[in-house]
Amino acid sequence: MSQPNAMFNARILGTGSYLPEKIVTNADLEEVMDTSDAWIRQRTGIRERRFVEPAVGPTDLGLQAAHRALQSAGLTPDQIDFIIFATLSPEYNFPGCGCLLQEKLGLATVGALDVRNQCTGFVYSLAIADQFVRTGTYRHILVVGAEVHSSGLEMNTHGRDVAVIFGDGAGAVVVGRSGNGNRRILSSPLHAQGKYARKLWLEAPTSLEHPRLTEEMLREGRHYPQMDGRYVFKHAVDRLQESVREALAENRLEIEDVGLLILHQANLRISESVVRSLKIPPERVFSNIQRYGNTTAASIPIALDEAVRAGKVQPGDVVVLAAFGSGFTWGATILRW
Ligand code: COA
Repeated sequence: MSQPNAMFNARILGTGSYLPEKIVTNADLEEVMDTSDAWIRQRTGIRERRFVEPAVGPTDLGLQAAHRALQSAGLTPDQIDFIIFATLSPEYNFPGCGCLLQEKLGLATVGALDVRNQCTGFVYSLAIADQFVRTGTYRHILVVGAEVHSSGLEMNTHGRDVAVIFGDGAGAVVVGRSGNGNRRILSSPLHAQGKYARKLWLEAPTSLEHPRLTEEMLREGRHYPQMDGRYVFKHAVDRLQESVREALAENRLEIEDVGLLILHQANLRISESVVRSLKIPPERVFSNIQRYGNTTAASIPIALDEAVRAGKVQPGDVVVLAAFGSGFTWGATILRW
């Protein structure tokens, strides 16, 4: 998506993240399914993940991340004039999490949009925020990615290929006008390929059935996520590389120009393979999947927040964010920090 005429430039003004306190190690998973710490580490790089306590939803995690992002941007909630909330694990089928978060933030009537693009949700959301800010429609947009996977995983040997991968968490950014034309979101090429929709999906409840959830569906486990892991793996590696190259090329930048690359945290082996192919020095890549697993729409904003707070990004650096996930969807955001 090349940049059309814009009235303003948009940039990320602040970042925040929030992880639930409860740590679930691979050894904890060994208690409930036939798996091993060695298998999980070797295949995914994951050592542990966080799970919420019951009755905690994505908007509770998102609220904490939002407060931290607002604080780092030097803003108060009342200065937010639009909310974009990316999640695949909403509290309810409807209304969306954006509305629930708006209420929790005490914002009376600002618009709230939910984005359901799974692991690519944050990248899509950032692209939408960029457009709204550049046209002058909104001044400060809160973009949140938050997930509660733990309540939807099949925690037994049958569900182990999916269950060991995912974790709960939230990340947020505030997107606003850039006073400095150089520090801005440069572009965000976005893609999807619906022909692979059922390679990584959650079927039930579904409006194709009457009623949407039946005893039979529960018995068959159709309310748990299903994944063709090898297929997803291969496509993720190819598409993530493509996205990074496409985003750089659109802006006439080279791999050597990249100050920091943050890939969606799906699997450490996927990231390592992409990084090797792109020939990006590992010290310019940030990963935290070891501690949190795959937090889907939350993974990039959590990693970005940690990288920023660790001083790994400096003003003027070229930062590339790239994601791939269910849909299939994929895309990248390239920005000058
Ligand atoms: N613990 C132990 N063994 C497991 C296991 C687990 N948690 N999950 C699967 N296995 C077993 C399988 O049953 C299989 O056993 P078999 O050889 O006796 O049939 C064996 O391990 C190999 O399974 P396979 O699926 O071929 O492993 P893999 O090397 O492809 O790794 C994934 C599995 C899920 C880690 C890997 O495919 C992957 O990461 N895919 C991408 C997933 C992803 O990123 N999804 C989100 C995208 S946004």
